[in-house]
Order: sequence, then C-alpha cells, then structure tokens
Amino acid sequence: MTQTPRDSFDLQRLQQRLAGLKLGQPLYYFETIDSTNQFLRALPPNQIQPGALALADHQTKGRGRFHRRWCDTPGRSLLFSVLLEASRPASLWPLLTLGAAVSVCRALEREEIARPQIRWPNDVMIDERKVCGILAEKTSAPKVLVLGVGLNVHQRIEDFPSPLRRSAGSLQLAAERPWSRENLLVAFLADFETFYRQWRDEQDATILHECRRRMSTLGRQVYIHGHGCRAEGIVMDLDDDGSLVLREPTGIVSRRHSGEVEEIAWETKNKCEGSRLKDE
Ligand code: BTN
Repeated sequence: MTQTPRDSFDLQRLQQRLAGLKLGQPLYYFETIDSTNQFLRALPPNQIQPGALALADHQTKGRGRFHRRWCDTPGRSLLFSVLLEASRPASLWPLLTLGAAVSVCRALEREEIARPQIRWPNDVMIDERKVCGILAEKTSAPKVLVLGVGLNVHQRIEDFPSPLRRSAGSLQLAAERPWSRENLLVAFLADFETFYRQWRDEQDATILHECRRRMSTLGRQVYIHGHGCRAEGIVMDLDDDGSLVLREPTGIVSRRHSGEVEEIAWETKNKCEGSRLKDE
C-alpha cells in the first residue's frame, strides 16, 4: 500500500522564499479551514490587503464553480487563495483567471510535466484529466477579488469520489515522483506576479499568447453550457477580454464569457451527424 507522502509546509522557509514577492504578504496558514477563498472574503474591510495569501492543508467546504464543492484529502492538495487589487473593469477580470491557469501550467512545465493544458476558462488538465481548478470571486471591498487555486498533487485514484475517477487527475498520477507543494506554490506566485503586473498595466498580449499556446480546445468542436445556456461550435479563438470565440453550426460567430466546455469526441460527433441525417 502507498504511504501518505510527507510534504508539509515549512512556514518559516516559505515566508523567506516569498519575501521578495508582493503576492504572499501577509501569509495565513491553516491546517484545516472551511475555504481559503471564504476566509479572505470574510476579512473585515480594514484587513483586506491585496497580496494576502491564505494557504490550507485541508478544506471542509472548498468552493468550486457553479456552487459545486471542491473536495480534498488532507495534505494531498495545494489549496490557496490570494487577494488581488482589480482596478480594471470586471469584464477583464477573467484574464486574471486565465493568467493563473498559465502560471499553473508553467509551474508544472518547470517540473517536467510535458503538456499541461488549459481547459477554458479555469481548469488545468494533464492527459485529459483535471488536476487543477481556479475560482475568482468578488470580495466586499470594491475592486478587490480573491483568486483561489486547488491543485491535486498527491492523490491516488481511490482518493477521488467514484464519479470523478475517470475525469480527475493528480500530479502523482501523472508522474510518480516526490512532489513539493511548497515549490509549486512559490513557482506559481513568482510567475503569476508578473502576469498580474502586466494585467494592471493593461498589457494583456503575453497572457493571451501563453494561454492560446496551451488551450486544449482551440480549433476543436465543443459543447459549452452553464448559466442556463448551451451552444455548440468550433472554438475559433480567445478574444482580447478572455472570452471564447465560437463558430456555431449556423455559421454565426458568438462570444462566450463563461460556461463549461466539453470537447465533442469524433465518434460522438459522427454519431450525432449520422442520426441527424437519418432524422432529416
Ligand atoms: C473549480 O474548478 O470549480 C474551481 C475550484 C477552486 C478550488 C480552490 S481550492 C482553494 C480555493 N478555496 C476554495 O474554496 N476554492 C478554491
């Protein structure tokens, strides 16, 4: 039987490693908390400090998109949230989520994971399994948002609830070797800090370029659903505000600002087209 890896945070060392960065100050660490996003969102206004980082070994009420739960096994995930000052219009905040997805990919690439990919708008995938989810939420302070990252690091397949065992992944499952959550966190923050600065300076080109390079669905046929809408089409591009440009079967080109993307496998697509032809 595989033993639980010993991969705890050395907080003193972590603080030293983060000392040169703007993100990570102050640092709040919890062995267990309901949700790191919720912790930062609930800070009283006079303590809302851009750059603040909440880090946890375990969350009891981890939050995901669409009011879903984000579950973890204690000590096996990298779970953290940062407070960001977001002075640009809210329509451009999704670029920060995409920038964070790129920074997760780059942290993994540094660790020799060959092709981590971004599943627009907020997931990082390895070998078509979701290893990371990102959740940006408003806070009570105007123009301050919280960006939360959950990265599956040491999970074995049995750590995931059965419905997720075909779609969820972890770094350990991708490459069986020692993983350090601390190294991953430091690499992420150092990389993301540059994007964050560029975003504030209205220089979005690098974020968009780096994201396009890693987007799994560019040029692919997808379904997109969520927030009561559903569409199908070919992903043409990522627009300047981070929205997805979709060419629908009618030829109409639309932009999607949020939702969940599922790639249509060729077999399914051919089956659908086959049955549509039969129906006609
Ligand atoms: C998703 O894929 O739906 C987004 C999941 C985001 C999970 C992270 S874990 C750290 C932070 N705290 C939370 O409660 N959620 C985010």
